[in-house]
Amino acid sequence: MEPILRFDNVSKHYPNGVHALKGVSFEVAEGEFISVIGPSGSGKSTLLRAINRLIPINGGTVWLDGQAVSAQRGTALRQLRRKVGMIFQNYNLVYSLSVLQNVLHGRLGYMGGLKGVFGLYSEEDKQEGLDLLKELGLEEFAYNRASDLSGGQKQRVGIARAIMQQPKLLLCDEPIASLDPSSAKTIMDLLKSMTQKRNIACIVNLHQLDVALKYSTRIIGLSKGEIVFDGRPEELDDATIERIYGTSRENLMIGGHGNDQADPAHCA
Ligand SMILES: Nc1ncnc2c1ncn2[C@@H]1O[C@H](COP(=O)(O)OP(=O)(O)O)[C@@H](O)[C@H]1O
Ligand SMILES: [Mg+2]
Repeated sequence: MEPILRFDNVSKHYPNGVHALKGVSFEVAEGEFISVIGPSGSGKSTLLRAINRLIPINGGTVWLDGQAVSAQRGTALRQLRRKVGMIFQNYNLVYSLSVLQNVLHGRLGYMGGLKGVFGLYSEEDKQEGLDLLKELGLEEFAYNRASDLSGGQKQRVGIARAIMQQPKLLLCDEPIASLDPSSAKTIMDLLKSMTQKRNIACIVNLHQLDVALKYSTRIIGLSKGEIVFDGRPEELDDATIERIYGTSRENLMIGGHGNDQADPAHCA
């Protein structure tokens, strides 16, 4: 079967000279749930942004659903981007609009210019948006302003908007970094169940090692723009963790080893 995503020797230099991705290659199959881990600055966000060409790459090829992303222009690029949903650390909602209107934004890529501009969504789309909100436990907030919601609820709207787009691939850049532990668990549970149910491949950038270990079918470890690990969570041993983070598993725990209050394993 054709992979949904393929990185073939991808490199990225920023104009300031930073070499953020160095010959990165990997493939993603339908329905995989992959965590990308690595210390701050290791290239996780750059890797995600290269996928739908939010940033241009300098070498290699990104293949999305069998098409080279860099070769696409105009309508073809828009159609390719529709296949990729995104979830952000800061939710990126339009706070002056209702929760349902934010969810419906997931359909914009499918609508003609004027219909999109005037928000003329079909009844079918509206019903699907409401069904998604119900599935996410937010139906009672459909007509509230998005600004009324808590952080965890805002991120659930982010998930609804992304799923509304009917993507084949979902990209999540630090989706729980702004949330308390309980909301973070809800969001990770929902990301996993909603994508697995629909056979959507999901790539999640995480700095919490324990969360990556718990949820992923596969983990990619980045260090200084290079993949230093690509395998199943149970294959990630202490030596590999040290290679990824440049420090031991114990030092990744807040407060150090043996502290009862040590929460998720964060890294600097
Ligand atoms: N827009 C940019 N311009 C210049 N350098 C950047 C830019 N974005 C990221 N970088 C640099 O690229 C490297 C990788 O950054 P990033 O992909 O954000 O890593 P991560 O998400 O793992 O923290 C870092 O050294 C960072 O400073
Ligand atoms: Mg980042």
